[in-house]
Amino acid sequence: MNARERTPMAAETAEKTAPASLDAVREEAEECRRCDLYRNATQTVFGEGGENARAVFVGEQPGDKEDIEGRPFVGPAGKLFDDVLEEVGIERKKTYVTNAVKHFKFEPRGKRRIHSKPNAGEIRACRWWLDQELTFLKPEVTVALGATAARALVGRPVPITKMRGNIVQSAEGVPVFITVHPSSLLRIPDREVRHAARAQFADDMRKVKKLMKG
Ligand code: URA
Repeated sequence: MNARERTPMAAETAEKTAPASLDAVREEAEECRRCDLYRNATQTVFGEGGENARAVFVGEQPGDKEDIEGRPFVGPAGKLFDDVLEEVGIERKKTYVTNAVKHFKFEPRGKRRIHSKPNAGEIRACRWWLDQELTFLKPEVTVALGATAARALVGRPVPITKMRGNIVQSAEGVPVFITVHPSSLLRIPDREVRHAARAQFADDMRKVKKLMKG
């Protein structure tokens, strides 16, 4: 997101009175109409985790299961994510997990709902909620799980393959640790390649653990 992309958000932000607490933000987000994605989604899927979280993990958007349950990362990608966090010894209560976009975007195909990538306008519109979450949580580190999250957090497109495992400063000076999205690991067909990719993701999470300072 460049400076030009940010301008309309700044105006929108200025119109609103800042909510008093993260719970108040969560409640407001239930009625979000900042873009059209609320029309087809079941509900807003807001972030969750410890109010004193040292790390905030940001995914792309809720998937099918998250949309139905109203909680982030409870589907297959969430299971992999939880398993890796446990493996490297990151305690969930010291984290907060959310998404760049808080409504499920999909294309209906028969009875199935196929994930559809949020566009730059949807990411920008939803940035209001992510900003509020970060304002209240003030984490030591934010973790971008994949390209959409990196774009939302850093404010511009980030080449994930090149930058993964590194920290990028956002326009606001917040450190953003870049890594892949866990669902990208699930899509790797070859077992050995998938194993290696999972191990690399676990290495990234070990780096995040160090950044959380205990
Ligand atoms: N993928 C995401 O990016 N977020 C979720 O909450 C689930 C899957």
